[in-house]
Amino acid sequence: MISPFEFVLPTKIRYGAGMLTVLGEELQILKAKKVMVITDKGLVKTGMVNKLSGLLGAEKIEFTVYDEIGANPKDYEVEACTQRAKEEAVDTLIAFGGGSPIDAAKAVAVLAIQEGKAKDYRGINKVQGDCLPLITIPTTAGTGSEITFSSVITDTQEKFKFTIKSASIAAKTALVDPELTVTVPPLITAATGIDALTHAIEGYTANCTEPIAEAAGLYAVEFIASNVVEAVKNGENLEARDKMMMGSLLAGLSFSHADVGSVHCMAESMGGVYDAPHGMCNAILLPYVMEYNLPYAEYKYARVARAMGITEHNDRRAAARGIELIKKLVKEIGLPGIRSLGVNPGDFEMLAEMSFQNGSNSSNPRPMTKEDYLLLFNRAYDSDHSTNKQ
Ligand SMILES: [Fe+2]
Repeated sequence: MISPFEFVLPTKIRYGAGMLTVLGEELQILKAKKVMVITDKGLVKTGMVNKLSGLLGAEKIEFTVYDEIGANPKDYEVEACTQRAKEEAVDTLIAFGGGSPIDAAKAVAVLAIQEGKAKDYRGINKVQGDCLPLITIPTTAGTGSEITFSSVITDTQEKFKFTIKSASIAAKTALVDPELTVTVPPLITAATGIDALTHAIEGYTANCTEPIAEAAGLYAVEFIASNVVEAVKNGENLEARDKMMMGSLLAGLSFSHADVGSVHCMAESMGGVYDAPHGMCNAILLPYVMEYNLPYAEYKYARVARAMGITEHNDRRAAARGIELIKKLVKEIGLPGIRSLGVNPGDFEMLAEMSFQNGSNSSNPRPMTKEDYLLLFNRAYDSDHSTNKQ
């Protein structure tokens, strides 16, 4: 029997090449009077924020731009952005960028109306009451944050990442336009693409998953695995970008309704301590966690492998070949090993403890102790024979 579950998706999705142009229409539906665009400086430099501003200007919508959000959004960035949103009395937010501006905007949506700091809303369903309406416009195919209920913020004092997970912080509308990703550089395409693949695999295999999340995750694996190399090597290929964008969205749908697992527990620990790029951390850890989980997830990993094009009837062999294929993919798209991120083995005890304490630890298909995490950090480190050692 299928275990009882609930499936809520409060976000309207408008998907397709050129979809950015319906922004004015969506703002009218939300009755927006004054809008804040939350983004980052990198996107300003590319001229994409100018393009968005042009659209808002043409629609005669009053707006302000906040571009101070960095990678791995920090608590103080969220607070400063909230302060500005209050000062400027904005009534609607637009998150424009990768996962960082989108996650930051979700936290700002709460704090602009409700009391306290981002950390006060840490955990599941801690956000009650109103939030500012939010439109998300992703410019990378990776986080799926445009439709998830999660916001991952770094506590800079304690050096750890915490998650606010509540349907209340989900965007009202996600405008998902693959054309926005054609200029994303190869390394970011690679890192965000493997983040999406990790969401798909972890969402599909999480202990708490359900059939809708499983279906979305497994289909996402197919989209991502067959297009990530082309998207990295030939970024102008809109067909590949399209499939990556849809893969990322489906993967987001999967993990936000199920959960992530140990790859994210470990990646978030590394992100919190070293400010290391999230997608790269996932890419490094994914094969090691899958190898470790294999006895507990053989059937599902075999299906993941088949979704990646492996034709092997025996589940154990198919799963093992799938893990090898992921290792090959990660290498082929130029992602570095763990040593290149400046990781210090002396920190592994602490990182293992943080991974164990992560809220998603219990969702991993294999029950994990602190010692298990320690073993995996060491395994990833010892297996990294890259020339890029520090
Ligand atoms: Fe992720």
